[in-house]
Amino acid sequence: MTRLRDFLHDPAFAGIEAFSSKLWLASPTMHGEEQRWVDEAIRSNWVSTVGANINEVERQIADYVGCKHAVALSCGTAALHLATKLAGEALYGQARPDHGTLEGQKVFCSDCTFDASINPVGYEDGQAIFIDTEYDTWNMSPEALEKAFEMYPDVKLVVVAHLYGTPGKMDEICDICARHGALIVEDAAESLGAKYLLHGKWVETGAIGGYNAISFNGNKIITGSSGGMFLTDSREDADKVRKWSTQSREAAAWYQHEELGYNYRISNIVAGVVRGQIPYLEEHIAQKRAIWERYEKGLADLPVQMNPWDRDKSVPNFWLSCMTVNEEAMAPFVRGEQDELWQHESGKSSPGEILAALAAFNAEGRPIWKPMHMQPIYRTHAFVTAEGNGRGRSNAYIAGSGVDVGADIFRRGLCLPSDNKMTPEQQDTVIEIVHRCFA
Ligand SMILES: Cc1ncc(COP(=O)(O)O)c(C=O)c1O
Repeated sequence: MTRLRDFLHDPAFAGIEAFSSKLWLASPTMHGEEQRWVDEAIRSNWVSTVGANINEVERQIADYVGCKHAVALSCGTAALHLATKLAGEALYGQARPDHGTLEGQKVFCSDCTFDASINPVGYEDGQAIFIDTEYDTWNMSPEALEKAFEMYPDVKLVVVAHLYGTPGKMDEICDICARHGALIVEDAAESLGAKYLLHGKWVETGAIGGYNAISFNGNKIITGSSGGMFLTDSREDADKVRKWSTQSREAAAWYQHEELGYNYRISNIVAGVVRGQIPYLEEHIAQKRAIWERYEKGLADLPVQMNPWDRDKSVPNFWLSCMTVNEEAMAPFVRGEQDELWQHESGKSSPGEILAALAAFNAEGRPIWKPMHMQPIYRTHAFVTAEGNGRGRSNAYIAGSGVDVGADIFRRGLCLPSDNKMTPEQQDTVIEIVHRCFA
């Protein structure tokens, strides 16, 4: 097997020119208004973690998402940490400063997500149990979640993410959690602007859980270069996050602390960038949707599927366009911990080959996020599929059932260049490159 293929000189790719400037997976798209609010912060000397930009982005995003309160923070991970800590305190009480609020507790977590979704469970000394994925939206499987509650009936917290901007099956997930008295931390870092028909009413992702987070990381649908936000309907929780994120000072003239603090507040400069981006959120979503639809049409004749979404109950923000190669069209492809090998076979291809071809022509794709239960750091953590225990399902005599949806999507899938500044002509070239991989 080889991973070496000289795509630029391979006859199968004849006539395709490498992009003169790199085509990104998802890069920031500035409009000019960002500069105005950054300049305003500097001119007025509000160069700190207080200021008008922070107040405005909190007001505007709370309004947009339909949550009563928003607290702008340094990143989405900070928002998820404080969301998870709040949920831990609500369930198990305040912890000593040298202990986490989830100490000794299990938490059900989305498996196909970025590790920032679920690392906060570890920050708070909890134990993540990973819930397998479903094929309809590539998010947490309600069947697997139900199984997990059968196996671990004491669990009271669920961390759920919406992958690539596509809402998960939140009707079912919310119902299951309500039946088991479990709280929800909602990770909408990738899905700001995505909508879901929750129990007959359209809502925004980021307004569904009890404790919600979004991200303004540089690759997100709108960005502040960094930044994130905690969203909630609870005034008390918003006030708590505001306090915790600014080192938990008590109301005294001196530094007085009764609980653990963090330096997690957003800067008024970063908030200025976000403020300049908010008016363009809908435009970015429309561009991303057009990209997804162009891929769907352009790849329709290949043995591949686009990342799916529930057309009756959701409208994604189409943050990333992704595809999976159909099983019968998978060329030989193996992955180790940090490298991979693939081989070309006529009429077939693999994520490794397609990503290598895109890179050769100066376009950035990415493998599907590697599921958490497969990550070395979490390999000893429980993993629950729709069939039950997802670990250790085979022995020398009995083949395992093989149900592991996340591993399957990771093996057969990839994220395509999804930058909203990509022109239709550039995207056509990407589509052509993918076609030639299957030649
Ligand atoms: C699903 C998910 N959760 C959380 C995060 C963390 O957000 P941030 O990078 O703003 O900390 C990200 C992205 O970075 C993400 O994609």
